Amino acid sequence: MTEIAFLLNGTPVRLRDIAPTRTLLDWLREDRGLTGTKEGCNEGDCGACTVMVTDAQGARALNACILFLPQLQGKAVRTVEGMAAPDGTLHPVQRAMVDCHGSQCGFCTPGFITSMVTAHLHGDTDHDTVLAGNLCRCTGYAPIIRAASAASAEPAPDWIRDDPATFILPQIPSGGAPQARGAEAPLDAPHLRTADDLADWYLANPQGRLIAGATDVGLWVTKQMRDLGPVAFVAGIPDLSGIRVTDSAIHIGAATTIEDLRRGIAPLHPDFAEMLRRFGSTQVRNAATVGGNIANGSPIGDGPPALIALGATLHLRRGQARRALPLEQFFLDYGKQDRQPGEFVEAVSVPRQPDRLKCYKLSKRFDQDISAVLGALNITLDKGRVSAARIAFGGMAGTPKRASGAEAALLGSDWSQATVEAACAALRRDFTPLSDMRASAGYRMEAAVAMLRRYWLEDQGLAPRILEVQP
Ligand SMILES: Cc1cc2nc3c(=O)[nH]c(=O)nc-3n(C[C@H](O)[C@H](O)[C@H](O)COP(=O)(O)OP(=O)(O)OC[C@H]3O[C@@H](n4cnc5c(N)ncnc54)[C@H](O)[C@@H]3O)c2cc1C
Ligand code: FES
Ligand code: FES
Repeated sequence: MTEIAFLLNGTPVRLRDIAPTRTLLDWLREDRGLTGTKEGCNEGDCGACTVMVTDAQGARALNACILFLPQLQGKAVRTVEGMAAPDGTLHPVQRAMVDCHGSQCGFCTPGFITSMVTAHLHGDTDHDTVLAGNLCRCTGYAPIIRAASAASAEPAPDWIRDDPATFILPQIPSGGAPQARGAEAPLDAPHLRTADDLADWYLANPQGRLIAGATDVGLWVTKQMRDLGPVAFVAGIPDLSGIRVTDSAIHIGAATTIEDLRRGIAPLHPDFAEMLRRFGSTQVRNAATVGGNIANGSPIGDGPPALIALGATLHLRRGQARRALPLEQFFLDYGKQDRQPGEFVEAVSVPRQPDRLKCYKLSKRFDQDISAVLGALNITLDKGRVSAARIAFGGMAGTPKRASGAEAALLGSDWSQATVEAACAALRRDFTPLSDMRASAGYRMEAAVAMLRRYWLEDQGLAPRILEVQP
């Protein structure tokens, strides 16, 4: 990538010869002296580094510590320094934070302000969800939530709106023509505009590293100090992004963000969407993609069990060759997936079906925590009998895995407590979970069995919906 161009607090910026894995946070603080954006954890957890990034899809809060500069190409960035009007008038959110005493030591405050300003722009008043990825050690949150509520009564000021369609694109060239493809493609970060561009580049550079939302890859750089070698950025490629719903299927592009999936899947499978509300934080979901969540092969990724329970098909592509396989077959073993060099995830699709899916995420912290166990259960009934059963778990094996014994125990049987207990017994034989820092093997097993029982009880209208701590 020869040049990166974006707007920073309303001013065009052009950067040349930047390492493709230089983070926005480091660049802001070290090169621009914009130290309002703080470094807390440097791994996407605390939100101290939150910035507002606007592109054609609108404004999103993102964590600058795991955001690489090339991901900003053609976009607009606002840091906390760009929240007040040019004449110094405070944004309504800033004024409310002062009035409500929402800041004490102030370290977290710039991140809270940028998250709140972005939500304010959208009229989003689900403050708990918006702020789940911003940690404050001092205030106890109540004054901050009061400030967010107070500010929501006021309209968003004009100065905060960046419109890339009318402002950025005419003023900032999008980087010129794509660089040469094929064997002569430069081994840095090419401009990829289509899935075809990506297919060509990856075929020519099979040792290259794809970067989508960088919510995993970012940590390899900031925490493990890894040199990634040749990289290509795939987030935002239009024909890899978005959800298409037809009469027969839901087609999800690999570069679709988890937040877009959450919103798109909510009318069809609300429990899937509710589980995704607890996937990372708003900032993480705004960056993380479905393709990255699958391709990383994590045994504790939240997306794959739910998709497997819905009967997902994974669509892979290498050059012009495409193949499709049931998603569960992609995960061969811990750290090993059925993917060839130069092959990438193009999409995942699930059949349309009546909604019977329940997802249970068990983690130590309600918000923004990696699952100890994630159960996704999809049991279909016909005249009191189980006509189909797809049950998948994360955290119970080295890969996301179906509970094939439990499924077999259910299939064709009466939908009764006795059947469920037989399936619970089979479930105990389906898995040999490990003990680690998140949970012991025994706890994982008891939790998984309890999830199957809970599905049954909820279906009978007997179990309360356990929504943990509510304000
Ligand atoms: C603070 C924090 C909280 C998190 N919480 C959760 C959580 O609650 N649940 C959860 O499941 N995960 C969580 N994660 C992990 C991460 O967000 C997810 O795994 C995410 O979906 C990764 O997507 P990405 O687009 O950021 O992938 P990236 O980091 O860009 O890439 C991940 C891997 O996938 C590869 N890749 C990306 N796209 C493709 C493609 N199209 N084809 C082939 N390979 C590809 C990359 O080369 C890389 O190997 C969290 C991460 C952080 C930092
Ligand atoms: S510094 Fe903690 S999320 Fe970026
Ligand atoms: S005011 Fe101190 S961390 Fe939030």
